[in-house]
Amino acid sequence: VLRDGDPLEEPRDPPRPPLASGRYEHILVEKRGEQNNVGFIQLNRPKALNALCDGLMREVGQALDSFEADNNVGAIVITGSDRAFAAGADIKEMQNRTFQECYGGNFLAHWNRVSTVKKPVIAAVNGFALGGGCELAMMCDIIYAGEKAQFGQPEILLGTIPGAGGTQRLTRAVGKSLAMEMVLTGDRVSAQEAKQSGLVSKIFPVDQLVSEAVKCGEKIASNSKLVSAMAKEAVNAAFELTLAEGNRLEKRLFHSTFATEDRKEGMTAFVEKRKANFTDS
Ligand code: HXC
Repeated sequence: VLRDGDPLEEPRDPPRPPLASGRYEHILVEKRGEQNNVGFIQLNRPKALNALCDGLMREVGQALDSFEADNNVGAIVITGSDRAFAAGADIKEMQNRTFQECYGGNFLAHWNRVSTVKKPVIAAVNGFALGGGCELAMMCDIIYAGEKAQFGQPEILLGTIPGAGGTQRLTRAVGKSLAMEMVLTGDRVSAQEAKQSGLVSKIFPVDQLVSEAVKCGEKIASNSKLVSAMAKEAVNAAFELTLAEGNRLEKRLFHSTFATEDRKEGMTAFVEKRKANFTDS
């Protein structure tokens, strides 16, 4: 049973003010789509195969904050390069870290920002999505893969284990046997295997992946942002709650849509045989 104050989401810092795209060092940030309503984040450390250093993940958090605060943005795409979505957390940065530093500083806690965004987030994965890279993709709501994508949790080969949700989200996505095999051997799976196991929803040719992800973002952004956030909250609850609790939350959110202008507009537009004009209210 959900009680007031029971956090479905991790607590987080208040949103930071939007930053101009020029102020990012490790990522490229812009808006895409015909209506400029898809927030677009490209990881941009090509020489390190987009290894997710601390600074990069902080910038991703800032970009997400700015898109979350932007009323025109209805969906967000995160992508990397053709060669690598991200080859994991930055091993060179982690190499000399102590337990005391990790535990005391709650190492990687800020990565959770990706999983607390209200707006739908699509990962467009070309190339390697390994370790933290695979975990970052799994924090997103939808994963699209390029034909040559490879997914893996190779931390075991470094003497450690996934630390940003890999053991949990991968297991929920692909089931125990494949998750165990990937986590215990470090073996990678192809885009095709990832699709077959339910980790990704669609595969595209490498050069079409990003535009297809943006198209999906545009489709999502054309719906009510308010109601999309409710839909996302309800689906995510399936990972946290019992069936009875989840259905109850769903029903309450469903009832809540009847308090919105957009629900009224959507049904009226259907009856009047015209396209709905949502106002996110
Ligand atoms: C830092 C990395 C890196 C990483 C690659 N590089 N992955 N640097 N952290 N995770 C750097 C390499 O050091 C090299 O730079 C450059 O990127 C190119 O990599 P190469 O190895 O030369 O390329 P290639 O031979 O094509 O092999 C690609 C690869 C391999 C298979 C992806 O780089 C690899 O195995 N990377 C590590 C993958 C991994 O173990 N990821 C999990 C990390 S642990 P220089 O300058 O040295 O030539 C993790 C923990 C998660 O993610 C816990 C919570 C987040």
